[in-house]
Amino acid sequence: MKQHTIKRIAINTGGGDAPGLNAVIRAVVVSAINRGWECFGIRDGYNGLLEPEKYPEGGLIPLSRTNVRGITHLGGTILGTTNKGNPLKFPVKGKKGQLQEIDRSDELIKAFKKNKIDALVAVGGDGSLGIANAFAQKGIRVVGVPKTIDNDLDKTVITFGFDTAVSFATSCIDRLHSTAEAHQRVMVVEVMGRYAGWIGLESGVSGTADVILIPEIPYDMHKVAKKIEERWSNGSHFAIVVVAEGAKPKGGSFSIVSKEIGRAEKLGGAGERVAKEIQEITGRETRCVVLGHLLRGGSPTTFDRLISLRFGAAAVRALDGGQRGIMVALDPPTVRYVPLVEATNRMKTVPLDCDIILTARDLGISFGDI
Ligand code: F6P
Repeated sequence: MKQHTIKRIAINTGGGDAPGLNAVIRAVVVSAINRGWECFGIRDGYNGLLEPEKYPEGGLIPLSRTNVRGITHLGGTILGTTNKGNPLKFPVKGKKGQLQEIDRSDELIKAFKKNKIDALVAVGGDGSLGIANAFAQKGIRVVGVPKTIDNDLDKTVITFGFDTAVSFATSCIDRLHSTAEAHQRVMVVEVMGRYAGWIGLESGVSGTADVILIPEIPYDMHKVAKKIEERWSNGSHFAIVVVAEGAKPKGGSFSIVSKEIGRAEKLGGAGERVAKEIQEITGRETRCVVLGHLLRGGSPTTFDRLISLRFGAAAVRALDGGQRGIMVALDPPTVRYVPLVEATNRMKTVPLDCDIILTARDLGISFGDI
């Protein structure tokens, strides 16, 4: 008998949802069932196990072929997700009603044992895979699957969800060209991405924006205004400015909406800030559109569906091969495995010398720095 014999596995989806989650779930469930394993889904991150009383129909649900039939093309996640249920920093009310964070990971490990779960497929971004890594260190057999529209996970060329988000952002930018030109306006488009500028950069270049502001290149608003004025002088009486939500001015800080106990800092307002200043400096009529959660919705693109199915099946192959404490990663043309600890060590931001930035500069796109 193999040392790593598996009978029952669990899968969970954590953090912000991303197109492709359901495709991963389907691939994991079907690949597991085809090996004679049982597969269970944990509801809402780890909440299904940590707070089972809140789930009358069960916080840990058996997943059969029927449960995962016809879901590959659907956005969201049939298991639910949360970005405020980190078991290592679980928000609970203290005696005086104030919120505080406590470590509930040992409770969760007991719940895995009680439910005879031999291994976990954790599908998530940097936060969720950091948690998965902590479980791996505590002896749980874990394989991670890299999810996030932000594409900011290290050691994988791409995370699933990114392609759908960036494609949608590009088509929104395309649509803004005609209205910007018709009204001779500056249109500012704010996109998500947290502290990484991948969505802003790739949609901005593909959508032929005039200015792209990303967290990796702090901007000078006078340089932005200069580029806009150049457009008007050259006879193009409109401009498109793409602003990543994590963009910040030189010497300034991120635009933060809130920071609550038990959850990540919430970014927002970067686009409005830029729009207001452009109008003040240039006198040009400026409007701001925030794409926000629209980027996370809808059906995954073919690329995202395929990579999600490949990631899910590869995660099960890894478990079957006795691997643990690893993340599946895209290393074209193949999927390979990297240690979870390496994947969660640092955030993958846009390298300043990458060819997409060089291409943008060659095409005359301004990053507001020179
Ligand atoms: O990490 C994915 C993401 O969509 C970020 O781009 C964004 O900053 C954040 O999640 C928004 O989170 P929430 O759903 O809590 O508003």
